[in-house]
Amino acid sequence: MAKNILILNGSPREKGNSAVLAGRAAAGALEAGALVESIYLHGLDIRPCDACELCADGECVIEDDMQALYPKLAAADAILLASPIYWFTITAQLKLCIDRWYGFQGHKWKEVSHKQFGVILTYGDTDLYSSGAINALHMYETMFRFLKSEIVGIVHGSLDAVGEAEQHPELMKQAYDLGKLLASPAQG
Ligand SMILES: Cc1cc2nc3c(=O)[nH]c(=O)nc-3n(C[C@H](O)[C@H](O)[C@H](O)COP(=O)(O)O)c2cc1C
Repeated sequence: MAKNILILNGSPREKGNSAVLAGRAAAGALEAGALVESIYLHGLDIRPCDACELCADGECVIEDDMQALYPKLAAADAILLASPIYWFTITAQLKLCIDRWYGFQGHKWKEVSHKQFGVILTYGDTDLYSSGAINALHMYETMFRFLKSEIVGIVHGSLDAVGEAEQHPELMKQAYDLGKLLASPAQG
């Protein structure tokens, strides 16, 4: 059966580097027969978790655009998280969305666990350490372990101005291949 892949784009730049790479991943996944939906988080009204804890016995009660996203997250077999590095970690847009996954606690995280994840990170500095991308990777590693989920692949690169991603065919190919991998049957 075709896999269901959800792509969350954390950059405010709709045609920025992480979005372009996520687009290549979407193309790879579609080519491999998956169903793909991309979400531009900056265009949504997603409020911060207010720690009311009402979700402990049910579901998140904040009436905003996360309510439409919860069922998409739950239905996804694989989730691709694409973000630039802002201030040495992922953007606030993506972090806001991930914080709200706390709303799944009432069902013991069932809806967001045992998934496959892919990661795309772009940064202006030269490498994983100087850019702070390493912090995002460390967070993801901890998060995927908590969610009993597999990390299928990570694509990252030093890119800055809009349009730079297209000048890096090796990164574009890595992103395309990551999409294909996410669309493949889960191993084990
Ligand atoms: C507010 C802001 C903060 C940033 N912080 C960092 C940073 O901490 N480390 C880094 O290497 N690049 C940083 N950058 C550069 C972006 O990560 C880089 O331009 C990236 O390629 C943008 O991706 P996008 O085109 O998908 O938006 C920052 C850019 C902005 C606008």
